[in-house]
Amino acid sequence: MKYSIAIDGPAGAGKSTVAKLAAKRLNIPYLDTGAMYRAVAVACKRNGVDVSDWDAVRAFLPHVDIQVRYTEGGEQRMIADGEDVTHLLRTEEISQGASLVSMIPEVRDRLVQLQREVAHRQAVIMDGRDICTNVLPDTPHKFFITASAEERANRRVKQLLEQGQPADYETILTDIRRRDRQDSERAYMPLVCREDTVRIDTTDLTIEQAVETLLSEVRE
Ligand code: DC
Repeated sequence: MKYSIAIDGPAGAGKSTVAKLAAKRLNIPYLDTGAMYRAVAVACKRNGVDVSDWDAVRAFLPHVDIQVRYTEGGEQRMIADGEDVTHLLRTEEISQGASLVSMIPEVRDRLVQLQREVAHRQAVIMDGRDICTNVLPDTPHKFFITASAEERANRRVKQLLEQGQPADYETILTDIRRRDRQDSERAYMPLVCREDTVRIDTTDLTIEQAVETLLSEVRE
């Protein structure tokens, strides 16, 4: 039977870590929909399109081809105009760019269509901001994974330092709060937690505990 698991939540709450592990245990693919918005931001940047200029992004959109592929090992890759851009997705500039392009209804409609096509073909676990509310509202498995902004900033600092990159807690906290505001206050398909959604606050949970909470709900 095809089934899907929908996860929403703010940036840096651990959604993708939890989703990836759960996907492995359930032996179904994981679709990171944030990566799709990031790929659009990368394509804009490469083509000199200003991500805050809605008309420019709208005019550009029909000319860019965005695809999701999986490696044999099951790893998701993002392809823009035939080129693998996965290694370019995880910078602060692209995080902010993705948040901006995701406000544009035409961008969302295009990516949501691709996301629904994936869920139509196979069982999948998908995370993002509007998966429970808009992309897969009919799945019984809906989750909202969150954590305090301070804890999310701490985790990001730790991650950057582990990668040998500079990290300033206050700057990161400000960025996280700005992105939270943009994602939850935008007019079209904002991030909200529906009533029929299981809320998992990971502030004081280990990754393993969060994964177990999700899987036990799914098994029920
Ligand atoms: O999950 P992420 O941080 O990679 O997402 C990047 C941005 O894309 C995020 O700020 C909001 C947007 N996004 C969205 O609006 N809807 C989704 N389903 C996924 C991401």
